[in-house]
Amino acid sequence: MLLDPSSLSKLKAEISCIGDSAFHGNTSLYLEDIINNKVDCKVFAAVRDGCIAGFLILSTVLDEAEIIEVAVSENLRKKGIASELMREIFDWCQKNGIIRIFLEVRESNLPARECYKKFGFSEDGQRKNYYRDPVEDAVLMSGKISY
Ligand SMILES: CC(C)(COP(=O)(O)OP(=O)(O)OC[C@H]1O[C@@H](n2cnc3c(N)ncnc32)[C@H](O)[C@@H]1OP(=O)(O)O)[C@@H](O)C(=O)NCCC(=O)NCCS
Repeated sequence: MLLDPSSLSKLKAEISCIGDSAFHGNTSLYLEDIINNKVDCKVFAAVRDGCIAGFLILSTVLDEAEIIEVAVSENLRKKGIASELMREIFDWCQKNGIIRIFLEVRESNLPARECYKKFGFSEDGQRKNYYRDPVEDAVLMSGKISY
């Protein structure tokens, strides 16, 4: 589901709990900026048994979107939760005139790369030494929204 501002404020801690371990604490900082209108992003969440199981942060500019972060609770991975979030954002993008979604991912992150490929993303390029802790190349990927 797409979170409105008040739900996002309420669920910030739960989402940060999943994201901060995967992204070195970046998720809580990012959510804070979204809540304070410093950045314009949509936050989608998947729920299981009344708790947040995964989330996806999407930034949009005109007819392009970027996946900023997507993560699923460690004990709930490989159960189709990221797939649910991906289907939801493809649907949202289609309804909102987006034509392409971009993202970057660590080269070693095979689960994420496979997940994106499953949803039709192609690998278009590389950014050398893009990530820190540890230093690693980024793989650039993009997916087309079909109309
Ligand atoms: C990447 C991530 C979001 C996938 O979430 P998930 O809910 O486990 O994914 P799903 O169960 O929906 O799987 C979707 C597809 O991803 C791929 N995939 C998921 N986990 C995988 C793994 N461990 N190894 C290989 N492929 C994997 C498969 O293609 C899978 O499709 P299939 O089930 O038909 O085989 C999850 O592993 C995660 O939170 N990782 C940490 C955060 C992260 O790295 N985010 C991406 C940063 S760019």
